[in-house]
Amino acid sequence: MNDASRLMKMTMALAIAAGLSLSGSWAQSAEVRVDLSQPGKKVNPRQFGIFFEEINHAGEGGLYTDLIRNGSFTEAPTLDAWAPVKAGSAKVNLFFETEDPLNAVKPRSLRVEANSSNGERAGLSNEGYWGIAVQKGTSYQFAMYARSAGGFSGPLTVSLEGKDGSVYGQAQIADLKPQWNRVTATIKSSAADPAARLVIATTHSGTFWINVVTLRPEGELFRPDLLQKLKDLKPGFMRFPGGTYVQGNDRASSYRWKTTIGDLASRPGHYDAPWSYWSDDYMGFHEYLLLCEQLGAEPYYVAYAGMTWTPSSKSPFGVLQGHRINVSDYPMEEMGPIVQDALDAIEYANGPVDSKWGAVRAKAGHPAPFGMKYVEIGNEDGFNPLYLEKYKLIYNAIKAKYPDIQILANERRGGWGDLLPMDLVDEHMYAPPLGAINMGKQLDARDRKGPKALLAEYAVQKAAGLGNMRAALAEAVMLSGIERNSDVMPMASYAPLLANLHAINWRPDLIYFDNVSSYGTPSYYAQKMFADSRIENSVPVEVKASELKLRMDGGTSVKGVDAVAEVQDQKTTGTADNYTYTARIRKASGDGGVVIQFAKQDDGGSYLAWYLGVKNRANTLLVWGGGGDQNVPTYQLETSLSGPIAPDVHGAIETGRWYDVEIRVTGRNVVCLLDGKEIHHAQVPENLGSSVYGSAGRTAKGEVVIRLVNLSPQKQTASIDIAGATSSGKYSAVASSIMSRDLDAENSIADPTRIAPVEQKLAAVGAKFQYEMEGNSFTVLKLNPEQK
Ligand code: AHR
Repeated sequence: MNDASRLMKMTMALAIAAGLSLSGSWAQSAEVRVDLSQPGKKVNPRQFGIFFEEINHAGEGGLYTDLIRNGSFTEAPTLDAWAPVKAGSAKVNLFFETEDPLNAVKPRSLRVEANSSNGERAGLSNEGYWGIAVQKGTSYQFAMYARSAGGFSGPLTVSLEGKDGSVYGQAQIADLKPQWNRVTATIKSSAADPAARLVIATTHSGTFWINVVTLRPEGELFRPDLLQKLKDLKPGFMRFPGGTYVQGNDRASSYRWKTTIGDLASRPGHYDAPWSYWSDDYMGFHEYLLLCEQLGAEPYYVAYAGMTWTPSSKSPFGVLQGHRINVSDYPMEEMGPIVQDALDAIEYANGPVDSKWGAVRAKAGHPAPFGMKYVEIGNEDGFNPLYLEKYKLIYNAIKAKYPDIQILANERRGGWGDLLPMDLVDEHMYAPPLGAINMGKQLDARDRKGPKALLAEYAVQKAAGLGNMRAALAEAVMLSGIERNSDVMPMASYAPLLANLHAINWRPDLIYFDNVSSYGTPSYYAQKMFADSRIENSVPVEVKASELKLRMDGGTSVKGVDAVAEVQDQKTTGTADNYTYTARIRKASGDGGVVIQFAKQDDGGSYLAWYLGVKNRANTLLVWGGGGDQNVPTYQLETSLSGPIAPDVHGAIETGRWYDVEIRVTGRNVVCLLDGKEIHHAQVPENLGSSVYGSAGRTAKGEVVIRLVNLSPQKQTASIDIAGATSSGKYSAVASSIMSRDLDAENSIADPTRIAPVEQKLAAVGAKFQYEMEGNSFTVLKLNPEQK
């Protein structure tokens, strides 16, 4: 080894030890030319919306406030969330019973046999969704249906209790009758507890049956903190209720809106098969419309198209293929009720009170129509050729009766050519950061003929963690691109919207919550920054900045991904552009795999990454339909910004076994070996595009909005030149920015605003001024023209 390479090796070893990387060359400035001399392109004022899907317990045990889980005993063949409660010598037996049911859709009730001769309590408890969160001073409305036998009339005591038995509040229910009756009580909690339980008990002996047990904070349909977070996004529209949730895995688990309206006791609920949990459907069609109303968002309903996802696979991703013929799909001759459902959904939302379904809506307390404009026919069914016929059938029926309804087709634009009539086409995109960044350019180049497109589901999904800064920056660039192309893509919404931290089906998501608290991801705040600076017109912007260059040297680290990983004998030999990294790795525990991050860039948040046996990282669905095996362990080689650079290879990492790993880097060539066997061989791109992106426009109030994304970890000074500035040429200016040195940075319950907009009033600026962009930042500059 010569001196130079020895020095190189030492430096690299130091970098590895310190978790740092070697320095690189980043440009320090950018030129941004904003052209205000022309009116610019109209932007749809309702362009950015939200997409609510019942996934990740978004509604059940989330936004919808009912705190009781399995209140109708339909969720599982077990007592799920319920448990017997008995003190001293008291006894209690709990049985499911189908005799003398509450009604046809609630066929199973719970028989409670309490035996208490000494006045000790006997009954049962419900733990809700990972505990029942109660607040001090809040009143809770309790309701259930009950009947009793043998003259037993109670009383029952219904209480909110802590795990240690502390009683926070209680109420008595007397007068149980032999016939089913709805009984209610109000319970005020004297304490706050994130994981309380509800107890229904008696101190007498007797038998009673219960069903449709509910508990919710008085007067609240939607959880206030989550509702506020949605309101703060000022959504232009709300797509609901799915997603794959609409399709289900078979007919029984598909979304049929008519079973989700009316009295709660008349809603059967259904199994949300794609996301593997029970849906009570208390957050039903009517509640979705109410939510839209509360948010000021246009309702956009996804109607079931008689096509389900997969009857056989646990994961929807295993079968995301074209030409799927699903045995659970409705054949054309059975499509009548499906078409009628779509028509009736529109009548329910919009029909006059003297129409059949308008009257049902009025009876539910909302005589005024909701004014629903958008209906999508199916979700992601468009890759199946059988969609064609079904779509046309539903389309024609809707257009004949409701010509003003805007109808959306699944598929990407051009996919169906002239075969289908449509008002808009719904494209979905789950992409690596660079895929999202490049989307704006692709939209700029789109031909302007054909239907407008809507990106009803998008997210940066590679190297995005649970939702990190990297994803937010890439999405900010993408949203700017969508904004300036409102003529071809007038609508877009992120997916998924909400996730209960106890039950994450999919990641990243936009807003996370536990029983008490919630936080928005950096992507959430990027969207909020757009919402707080909606522009009416977008104007041309030219940016000259340095390219993002990917270095091949830098530190290395090994981590578990949903697993605990161990590493031994790490060694890097060679020179900066020709080196070999070797190590022994072991997965000590966990369901996931291991990641080796190498060639870390200056910021430590960009890197090359070799994932070994990692699951739950959906493959790139660049313009949807790409598919991927979300639940299959795979080896994946990617750059944190551009995503995969070699084909994924299926394979797992066994727990407890040591593996030899080797990464050979020669120039931009990378070879990865596992136990001496070559797994990947890839060529790494050198340039990843511009380090700065800019867009601009005018708000309705005449403010000038300039959006700047600095993808470089270094500060960069933007020299901004506004052509066609106002007559005074002077503006008062406010900058709002999110930034982080660490691109992997995420918010959390403990640190909910680690990444959140920071606002700064700037000194007045002229038509030419400089603004220093922080490294890895997204900034919105709002310039208010000063009067002469
Ligand atoms: O957003 C999560 C899922 O992604 C949706 O259910 C489905 O439409 C898409 O594939």
